[in-house]
Amino acid sequence: MHGIHISASILAADWSNLGQAVREAEVAGADSIHIDIMDGHYVHNLTLGIKTIPCLKPHTTLPLIVHLEISNPDSFIADFAEVGSNMIVVQEDTCPDLAATIEKIHGYGIQAGVAVNPDRPLDTVIDFLDRIDLLLLMSVFPGFGGQQLLTWVLPKVEEARKRADALKTPPFIGLDGGINQRTIQACVNAGADFLAIGTAIYGGGSVKDNIRILRCLSMTP
Ligand code: DX5
Ligand code: ZN
Repeated sequence: MHGIHISASILAADWSNLGQAVREAEVAGADSIHIDIMDGHYVHNLTLGIKTIPCLKPHTTLPLIVHLEISNPDSFIADFAEVGSNMIVVQEDTCPDLAATIEKIHGYGIQAGVAVNPDRPLDTVIDFLDRIDLLLLMSVFPGFGGQQLLTWVLPKVEEARKRADALKTPPFIGLDGGINQRTIQACVNAGADFLAIGTAIYGGGSVKDNIRILRCLSMTP
């Protein structure tokens, strides 16, 4: 039944009831919860914080994936690890020493992901594919949900897929941004096996139907 990892991005959910948002995602068969943390500096938006993680924990058994869209993520890794994050994803262009950052995250016994903006090449991350759990290719410029998927990122997914498949234990190759019922098949066909999805899950209609349809589309070639 499962194939593609679907991570429900609560950026698009009703923030007055995030507990319900993650419960609904779990019941509907999402594989993880995606939590975008923005600092008003790396991106021009402010979102959730450290406290969000322990607040959500009692509501779901799904892994909580923290996507740090912030400057200087190194200074917040300890905080997010200690409150129970299951994976921390950093933006590669915010890490002066990416190897050390990955090691630091793994040092807390949790998974490490690295995100790459649409206009950035794979060069800085390619050597780290064998030691990360997720390569998250941004299919929108970070900062906001509800943007259109930039299809010109898809060849980068194909390239990353090839490089990952050459490894004994490949990381997930993920996409984040603009994934919906119309775009999901192109994402999967390009080689993505992890999708962070916000608006198409929480932006209207029932979370259950939305995830069911997305799951179904992700399985049809
Ligand atoms: C963008 C965030 C995404 C966002 C995706 O900065 O990293 O995770 O929630 O939202 P949609 O699915 O609405 O593009
Ligand atoms: Zn994200």
